[in-house]
Amino acid sequence: MSFNNIYHGKKVLVTGHTGFKGSWLSIWLKQLGADVYGYALPPYSELDNFVTTNLESQITHFEGDVRDAAKLNDVFAKVQPEIVFHLAAQPLVLLSYEDPVGTFETNLMGVVNFFEAVRKTKSVKVAINVTSDKCYDNKEWVWGYRENDPMGGKDPYSASKGCAELITSSYVHSFFNNSSCLVASARAGNVIGGGDWAKDRIVPDYFRAFKANLKLTIRNPYATRPWQHVLEPLSGYLNLAATLYEKGKEYCGGWNFGPEDTSNYSVKDLVDRMLLIDNTGGYEIPENTVKPHEATLLKLDISKAVNYLNWRPVLSFDETAEFTVNGYKDDISEEGILNKRIEQINLYTSKAVQKKIEWAI
Ligand SMILES: NC(=O)c1ccc[n+]([C@@H]2O[C@H](COP(=O)([O-])OP(=O)(O)OC[C@H]3O[C@@H](n4cnc5c(N)ncnc54)[C@H](O)[C@@H]3O)[C@@H](O)[C@H]2O)c1
Repeated sequence: MSFNNIYHGKKVLVTGHTGFKGSWLSIWLKQLGADVYGYALPPYSELDNFVTTNLESQITHFEGDVRDAAKLNDVFAKVQPEIVFHLAAQPLVLLSYEDPVGTFETNLMGVVNFFEAVRKTKSVKVAINVTSDKCYDNKEWVWGYRENDPMGGKDPYSASKGCAELITSSYVHSFFNNSSCLVASARAGNVIGGGDWAKDRIVPDYFRAFKANLKLTIRNPYATRPWQHVLEPLSGYLNLAATLYEKGKEYCGGWNFGPEDTSNYSVKDLVDRMLLIDNTGGYEIPENTVKPHEATLLKLDISKAVNYLNWRPVLSFDETAEFTVNGYKDDISEEGILNKRIEQINLYTSKAVQKKIEWAI
């Protein structure tokens, strides 16, 4: 009985449910017996997890922009959710250089509008804002960032996530301190897994190149990233919301959900590992390319989640690569994708049970 059966029969609203993480979260919530509602822009393409799993037939789907405060309020008022997860965002660093205004509008005012809707909707007991490991002032050092480290961000995307954290903290101090609604933010790293076909992300690029019979070009081969299969941070978000719901206020605040300290690998390590599993093609590393700034060393300290939430990553680096390759093979085979996603969730949960991780037992 995962997450102490908290989600069973509850109304849960997910913003960004048409995206990569939001669609997996909605599928998992549905499996946990929740009554799931989503608010987001339409899916980007026919390849998206939301489309290929036919998620629209499983949940209540609202199309809308998080910058449209009135529409978002209407949906909250109509649904009267008890638990809400905010994942709708412009999530790409390179796109944030092309469209800084759109990125800041969506990632800042989207969060403000989300918390305004939460304030107005008295049914909401728990609200989780999903930000990013990039919210921290990145000093390019070897130590992991802790939840109380300063916010920052050089590129517009990272800065928008640092700001999203400040907005969350401001709303907590100004409006939610004495309210019945409990608020937390969740910071996770680079997430991978079947169903993500976003631009300029290494794993979608890898499978796009494979499908087109081309060689992958690796932009930042030696950049290390806290790679995680998508189910890892989602288990953290679900654990966090369930703990807040059951145990209360002391679990409010910011939480990191990253891999173990020993498992920060480079982009090249990940591609090499996927090639070993799959043997699907080759790659090239261009010389002397001039690129916009992207952080090259970024690590999260997960001690807080491990000690206070009893949360831990479930998959090794090899298993992460294997889950990911299998997820994309499911995408490419195009057969029964929803069931394949559910099988991965069940396999992940059974591995968590074997490891005696509390949320799964
Ligand atoms: N994928 C990662 O590696 C990663 C890492 C750290 C943090 N995150 C964060 O997790 C969240 C989800 O990311 P993802 O990878 O699933 O992204 P995604 O691009 O796959 O999905 C984004 C979702 O947000 C919605 N959205 C975007 N702009 C919107 C707007 N103006 N109004 C309404 N909806 C809008 C999209 O429709 C989509 O449903 C984001 O907040 C992102 O910053 C992702």
